[in-house]
Amino acid sequence: MKVLNLHAGLGGNRKKWEGVEVTAVELDPKIAKVYQKNNPFDEVIIGDAMQYLKEHRNEFDFIWASPPCQKHSRMMKATRHDVADYFDLQLYQIIIFLDNFYKCKWVVENVKPYYKPLIKPTCVMGRHLFWSNFNISPISVPSPKGFITSGTVSDSQKLKDWLGIQYEGNIYYGENHCPGQVLRNCVHPDVGLHIFNESKKKDPVQLNLLELLQTTAE
Ligand SMILES: C[S@@+](CC[C@H](N)C(=O)[O-])C[C@H]1O[C@@H](n2cnc3c(N)ncnc32)[C@H](O)[C@@H]1O
Repeated sequence: MKVLNLHAGLGGNRKKWEGVEVTAVELDPKIAKVYQKNNPFDEVIIGDAMQYLKEHRNEFDFIWASPPCQKHSRMMKATRHDVADYFDLQLYQIIIFLDNFYKCKWVVENVKPYYKPLIKPTCVMGRHLFWSNFNISPISVPSPKGFITSGTVSDSQKLKDWLGIQYEGNIYYGENHCPGQVLRNCVHPDVGLHIFNESKKKDPVQLNLLELLQTTAE
């Protein structure tokens, strides 16, 4: 099974997938380097997920996308600093694109936004929203205490341990000065595995069709 893991980050969602051939696309070379080290058999492409998706989507059996969430996050309104900005359009562009131009199973992940989502998500799980073309039942994976404010190097080590993703030193995400940000961006591996398994279940329409075919054959 060939999987496309877009906006791969450090590979939180991907960590527990087994028996798959993964191509990962990540824009930031520092982040991609850690992903590659933790997933040595994946093909890692340093580049733009949007362009890659458009050109290569039909080569894959399953697509996961985690476009940048900072400009949708409730943190935009929960700070004393003036961070007012337009949200990143990638999120809605990808959902609408996949829904219309991709035939296999797909899922798009983001955080709960500070506004009412423009497209209703398929599943709300913890601090995440998921849009997909298959059913996802929520599971609970509690975050460590002080997750949102975790800003010190020792907090980062706790996040690394929680995710099971280790690397030397700190990685800073874009202009962000917090060593925990790149780790807080991750989907927990248990959530990534759960959703991947949900994608492999037969959906109710397929099940009905199978039952009908079996009854007709008898
Ligand atoms: C929310 S994080 C991904 C988290 C990942 N799913 C995980 O569970 O570890 C989003 C990632 O997208 C990357 N990114 C942002 N814009 C991108 C683009 N246009 N193409 C590829 N990657 C991009 C960021 O560098 C960041 O690492």
